[in-house]
Amino acid sequence: MFYDLASSTWGDEELQALQRVIASGQLTIGSHVRQFEEDFARKFGVKHALMVSSGSAANLVGVAALFHKRERPLQRGDEVIVPPISWATTYYPLQQYGLRLRFVDVELETLNMDVSQLERALTPRTRMVMAVSILGNPCALDVVRAFCDRHGLYLFEDNCESMGASLNGKPCGTFGDINTFSTFFSHHISTMEGGVLATDDTELYHLARSMRAHGWTRDLPPDTTIYERRDDDFFEAYRFILPGYNARPLEIEGAVGIEQLKKLDRFVEIRRQNAALFRSLFEGDERFIIQREHGRSSWFAFTLVLNPAVAVDRRAVMDALKQAGIGYRIITGGCFLRHDVIKYFDYDTAGEIVHAHVAHDRGFFVGNHPTDLTLQIQRLREVLDRAAVARGTHAFVQTSE
Ligand SMILES: Cc1ncc(COP(=O)(O)O)c(C=O)c1O
Repeated sequence: MFYDLASSTWGDEELQALQRVIASGQLTIGSHVRQFEEDFARKFGVKHALMVSSGSAANLVGVAALFHKRERPLQRGDEVIVPPISWATTYYPLQQYGLRLRFVDVELETLNMDVSQLERALTPRTRMVMAVSILGNPCALDVVRAFCDRHGLYLFEDNCESMGASLNGKPCGTFGDINTFSTFFSHHISTMEGGVLATDDTELYHLARSMRAHGWTRDLPPDTTIYERRDDDFFEAYRFILPGYNARPLEIEGAVGIEQLKKLDRFVEIRRQNAALFRSLFEGDERFIIQREHGRSSWFAFTLVLNPAVAVDRRAVMDALKQAGIGYRIITGGCFLRHDVIKYFDYDTAGEIVHAHVAHDRGFFVGNHPTDLTLQIQRLREVLDRAAVARGTHAFVQTSE
């Protein structure tokens, strides 16, 4: 493929880290995962980081933990405000825990939740907002945080697509009461599979830590407030206190994560250089709506929505990309309301959902990588220039270059 969606970001350091762990014989969770968690918490300036088996697992364990907080726990039937564009496993734990979803449309330019509609989405049952920064581009997290504080709501930040991004100098993935990250292969750092839950709330951290491993007590420090330790080691060794999971990562994932994290800033810099080229070639072209950066994006990928005001045939564009060996996908799974699985959800919408449907029907993304993509992006421009022919009365207007 000439221009793939993702590529490996590993070097010798990661391979050596793998070898060290294998040689040590300690393959299940241990000191490398612990070290990665400490490095991660320090890097992002959060009190606690918990590595889990995937970003999806981080969302699941995070939602589960909120149901067991001593004060103000989430309860079945509570409402959560969500954007209609996100990954499926942003929503699944909400459904699995009996929460009601209230969808608020996205802005077409940023592809993030339109926060001007938050107040109208609020009901007496609202308990939480799920904020998602799409493909590296920060959501208006400061506005969402202030809204949550004003109304006593939890903020759950699913930052699985935007590691390394920031808003007003504050890293994405630190605005929420719970924040989640993915370290799956194509993401900003890769531990093959993997995810991280980050929080400043020590009670939530202990709840999540127990739920990551069978709901047992073994990994909890003696001063935890989530249970009272008894003076009998025999029963304490296998003591179950919460209906949890096994969402633990492997030791090799932790070891690779340590090396990848050291490279994150450089990776993001290169991604941003590619983005500068992408923007210079596509900004001002009326045929394409590209993602407008809000804050400092870590540019997971490049999105293009075929402007509904210009009659370009989506099929012809997709065919041309395929023929040119350029990988593409619907934007983050498209509009979640359009998927069959929605029939299992209790939900409604606050206002009309318009932009998410446009992005679903007329949007796609191509990859960004932490390597120089000058040739690939130039080729993308040529291919799209030829394939995206405006039909009907709308003439193509090129306003940049
Ligand atoms: C917004 C969002 N949340 C959650 C996930 C799930 O992460 P993982 O693939 O590590 O399970 C993804 C995956 O890309 C995502 O984009």
